[in-house]
Amino acid sequence: MGLTIGVDVGGTKIAAGVVDENGQILARTRVPTPADPQWAVDAIAQAVRELKEQHPEVAAVGVGAPGYINRDRSTVILAPNIAWENEPLKTRIEELTGLDTVVENDANCAAWAEFRFGAAAEHSDMVLITVGTGIGGGIVLEGRLHRGRFGVAGEVGHLNMIPDGLPCGCGGKGCWEQYASGRALRRYGREKAAADPVAGKRMLDLNDGVAETIRGIHITQAAEEGDPLALECYEDVSDWLGRGMADLAALFDPAVFVLGGGVSDAGRLLLDPVSQAFQKYLTGGVHRPRAEVVLASMGSASGIAGAGDLARTA
Ligand code: BGC
Ligand code: NA
Ligand code: ZN
Repeated sequence: MGLTIGVDVGGTKIAAGVVDENGQILARTRVPTPADPQWAVDAIAQAVRELKEQHPEVAAVGVGAPGYINRDRSTVILAPNIAWENEPLKTRIEELTGLDTVVENDANCAAWAEFRFGAAAEHSDMVLITVGTGIGGGIVLEGRLHRGRFGVAGEVGHLNMIPDGLPCGCGGKGCWEQYASGRALRRYGREKAAADPVAGKRMLDLNDGVAETIRGIHITQAAEEGDPLALECYEDVSDWLGRGMADLAALFDPAVFVLGGGVSDAGRLLLDPVSQAFQKYLTGGVHRPRAEVVLASMGSASGIAGAGDLARTA
């Protein structure tokens, strides 16, 4: 199979591209994600049609969606951060575009791309963690994407961290993504700045003095300048990330953890404290071989390239 189209459906934008067999993206388009879940389906189809006009030879479509996808790659069972429930996305996109379509979990797509073409290309066992609005996971074991019996393996964002903890979009409470995602980072910034406006001065200044609406970019900028309270927000998120990764290492024993998603754009600000926390919580500690922790290398291309590549494989 030659060219395919990969679509990366996010909470805020839908990005799509024409992908070749080496994971190169030959053409791209993007649109904001409509709030209405049915309009979101139409927006995906529209992006696909636009790319198909430019490259009529495309053979198939892979859609990476942020939720629980069934084993036969057709239905979004549940999407904690987008309003889809039992959405027959494969059939809808096929009807609207006339192209064979598979639906994959967004983090599985990113993991597959980093494994095939990116930061984990040297390894056959890897776990990718996307740290964005939520937390996603993709697991590659012995060179194969691990989907599980029902297709929902790697839904690591909903590992229970705190019994009866914060409510989550999945309907559960105390999920990992409530403590270690981009949204969690933002919450730490808001809470800390509100609790101690003196220590929180830099973050507050960056947001016209308002704690309740502090955003990730403010925290990141302040942390990059060395602001202690902003650094503490990164440490909190990183501590939770490292904790969860230690459990994942106990289960899957990967060679490498790849950190992706919007928060990983912060680079060392995230990587260093996460690596330390991972070491701290890893069972067996210094007596066992340890996975490397690295940053994703494909940036926003991984979702598109992975979805496009997975459209070629069973
Ligand atoms: C969803 C996952 C998704 C992740 C990142 C989680 O809330 O359950 O399916 O991969 O967010 O978008
Ligand atoms: Na996944
Ligand atoms: Zn959850």
